[in-house]
Amino acid sequence: MTAVRSVPVLLFVVAAASNAYRLHKFPELTAPEPSPYGSLWPLPQSVQVSPVVMFIPPPEFRIVHGEGSTAGPDCLVLQDAFRRYFDYMFDYIRLKDVPAGKTSSGRLVELQVILTSKDNECHKYPSILSDESYKLSVNDDGAVLQASQVWGAVRGLETFSQLVYKDETGAFLINKTQITDFPRFAHRGILLDTSRHFLPLKVILRTLDAMSFNKLNVLHWHIVDDQSFPYQSETFPELSDKGAYQPFTHIYTFIDIRMVIEYARLRGIRVVPEFDTPGHADSWGKGQKDLLTPCYKDGEPSGTFGPVNPIINNTYTFMYKLFREIGKVFPDQYIHLGGDEVDFSCWKSNPDINKFMAEHGFGTDYCKLESYYVQQILGIVSSLKKGYMVWQEVFDNHDQLKPDTVVEVWKEKNYQEEMAAVTAAGFQTLLSAPWYLNRITIGQDWIQIYHVEPTNFSGTEEQKHLVIGGEACLWGEFVDATNLTPRLWPRASAVAERLWSNKTVTSVQDAYNRLVVHRCRMVGRGIAAEPLYVGFCENEVNY
Ligand SMILES: *[C@@H]1O[C@H](CO)[C@@H](O)[C@H](O)[C@H]1NC(C)=O
Ligand SMILES: *[C@@H]1O[C@H](CO)[C@@H](O)[C@H](O)[C@H]1NC(C)=O
Ligand SMILES: *[C@@H]1O[C@H](CO)[C@@H](O)[C@H](O)[C@H]1NC(C)=O
Ligand SMILES: *[C@@H]1O[C@H](CO)[C@@H](O)[C@H](O)[C@H]1NC(C)=O
Repeated sequence: MTAVRSVPVLLFVVAAASNAYRLHKFPELTAPEPSPYGSLWPLPQSVQVSPVVMFIPPPEFRIVHGEGSTAGPDCLVLQDAFRRYFDYMFDYIRLKDVPAGKTSSGRLVELQVILTSKDNECHKYPSILSDESYKLSVNDDGAVLQASQVWGAVRGLETFSQLVYKDETGAFLINKTQITDFPRFAHRGILLDTSRHFLPLKVILRTLDAMSFNKLNVLHWHIVDDQSFPYQSETFPELSDKGAYQPFTHIYTFIDIRMVIEYARLRGIRVVPEFDTPGHADSWGKGQKDLLTPCYKDGEPSGTFGPVNPIINNTYTFMYKLFREIGKVFPDQYIHLGGDEVDFSCWKSNPDINKFMAEHGFGTDYCKLESYYVQQILGIVSSLKKGYMVWQEVFDNHDQLKPDTVVEVWKEKNYQEEMAAVTAAGFQTLLSAPWYLNRITIGQDWIQIYHVEPTNFSGTEEQKHLVIGGEACLWGEFVDATNLTPRLWPRASAVAERLWSNKTVTSVQDAYNRLVVHRCRMVGRGIAAEPLYVGFCENEVNY
């Protein structure tokens, strides 16, 4: 006896637009209909889906290490992914209740996963050089996922899970399919800000889940800022004791951070921490005396403080010790050093700073003082054998940057010119300017996000190759655990497809057709992704 689930999971219906809705109807789009690519998101580089359908009996279905694979049961990344994707695909159902499917269809009972590289990176952290490519073939005689490294296998398992759907009886089906896939850009990130509001660990981990559903691979963790310092340092515990919103509950301990890094690793995601200075550092001053510049008013200290004080030696001793610790806690090759939006008014008011400026021949150009500071910090981080990322101002100020520096372009005005300038100078660049997802408007703003082409600036082919990817940024002034997920998803999915798929994948209508289903899939997997427009998911979930 089989219990029939009344409706297929991935079906969707868009209500006929009433007159009231028409006011907000986007003329560009018609109601979603099935895409020739099913619900694949982001779209693989090459896909052939055939109309031949096979039935998957979940009680028998296995994901296994295929013959000749360089990985086995000790590869935790794969073992964990096999378990996760089995659950996602079969929806945690009671396996004995699955309907039998049409007897005329072929049956698929196994997915073999084969890693081919000797250095399959099972026991490593992902890096900018990781190989995420894979090949997936689903045939009558079996399904095979082949990848050089474990990271490609993780991406391919996501793709396989997206191919599985249900018929009207609730039976699980998959079409015969051939896919060859690899990312267009190596760095596909999300920025989370845990200073303006503290984000509980659970929210960060759920974001990592959603990132893996969208093949995003970098968590840019903007961990501290003016408002709070939740990073608990072993070397300088006063920083979070005094600088966190709450010194026991609103902090990230080493154990928390290790958990985030391992959870991310299992999903092929890098964790790049940002410790932004010399601006955006108010909270640092609470637990580290004399770190910030005292501001003056009418020739007297006013009691307020400005950016990090760049003229005292102890600043650099402190920064060396702190970054040495950070470099050990976060295994990624890169640390983001910030360097944006430095307000010079406090430095201008301070007589000691002005004396230092005169001695160093900086005149009244406070950019030179900022450069002086940044140069020391870059030197410190280089001496720790780490690479660095910086916001665009550090490049704009003509600081001496190591050739492997990554410059992140964030200012929306003239960002194409900035991309051209950064790459003309030979630096790798990341684009985030058009992807500040903390901003919201009414309507389908994912379309604008989707239209962005990161290499659309005037420059040579060589320059275009220096664009290594981009990031969707979710700044935290108006975002905490209550609204983070729906503000990020599915709009960040639009960024994800732009950074993964072929440049020629630009049809908004086809994207809409697939994204509506992908969004429902995310909802089914526990991600409170907001709707794209009118309609409903078969698997509505109460949050
Ligand atoms: C899968 O096969 C069915 C049955 O032939 C067909 O209707 C459907 O369009 C196919 N799916 C895709 C994405 O091609
Ligand atoms: C700071 O360091 C510089 C360079 O090492 C040195 O010349 C200077 O005397 C030091 N200043 C103080 C106040 O220690
Ligand atoms: C490239 O940028 C120009 C100038 O902003 C814009 O007019 C054009 O539509 C863009 N093209 C693409 C393919 O994004
Ligand atoms: C992207 O698609 C175009 C058009 O189909 C194709 O010519 C090109 O080779 C593809 N690019 C890659 C990197 O596969």
